[in-house]
Amino acid sequence: MSTRIGVPEFVDTGWVFSPATHAEATEIIGRYPQSRSALLPLLHLVQSVEGFVSRPGIAFCARVLDLTEAEVAAVATFYTMYKRSPCGQHLVSVCTNALCAALGGDAIYATVSAHLGVGHEETAGEPGTPGSITLEHAECLAACDMAPVLQVNYEYYDNQTPDAALDLVLALQAGVKPPPTRGAPLTDFRSVEREIAGVYDDLAARVEGPSAAPSTLRGVTLAEHTDQRAPAMPDTVTFPDLPPKK
Ligand code: FES
Repeated sequence: MSTRIGVPEFVDTGWVFSPATHAEATEIIGRYPQSRSALLPLLHLVQSVEGFVSRPGIAFCARVLDLTEAEVAAVATFYTMYKRSPCGQHLVSVCTNALCAALGGDAIYATVSAHLGVGHEETAGEPGTPGSITLEHAECLAACDMAPVLQVNYEYYDNQTPDAALDLVLALQAGVKPPPTRGAPLTDFRSVEREIAGVYDDLAARVEGPSAAPSTLRGVTLAEHTDQRAPAMPDTVTFPDLPPKK
């Protein structure tokens, strides 16, 4: 069978989404004035089930949001957080954008890649099984003040070195989940995809831990010391009328 150039292909797993996933999708859609606004979280929801966006995942989103599969596929292929092949238990994202790269990000990526024997968007181990790891280059992870950084399942590990990153990956392969530098405790890729979709199985546990580093708050501290403040927010804001929900 020939492949048409430029037409995205999605793996047909034959997966049938459960009534529980349908119920979660309905709950998520109910949060938005327009149903189609729920597409981004729903794509994360299907990733939490299969570990990536499959062809049934595209069809599921299209059906529950009354969109065409082409509309859903267009969004799923635009954002790099939507994966087109199954991810490992953990997704390791190494920032190789300019600042991190200059401070060691390229060396970190090379070290992790050589150890795992995989490249960008490839998985070491059987996807989804314990200790399996998907590696990817990441663009700026918005943590330049802690460069070079990497993320595991979107949790931050700051001020990395090649040796520190290698120790982290060895621990992940051994089933250990070292605590991130800040933010929530480490879980796994599929669990985090549920959270990004807006489904929190244990919200209290997920908000434990420091969420900001002192270096990130340095500007706020300086503003306090120099008595600088942002203009006051208005007490009321008038929003334009919304069209009927579709
Ligand atoms: S360049 Fe790496 S976090 Fe910004």
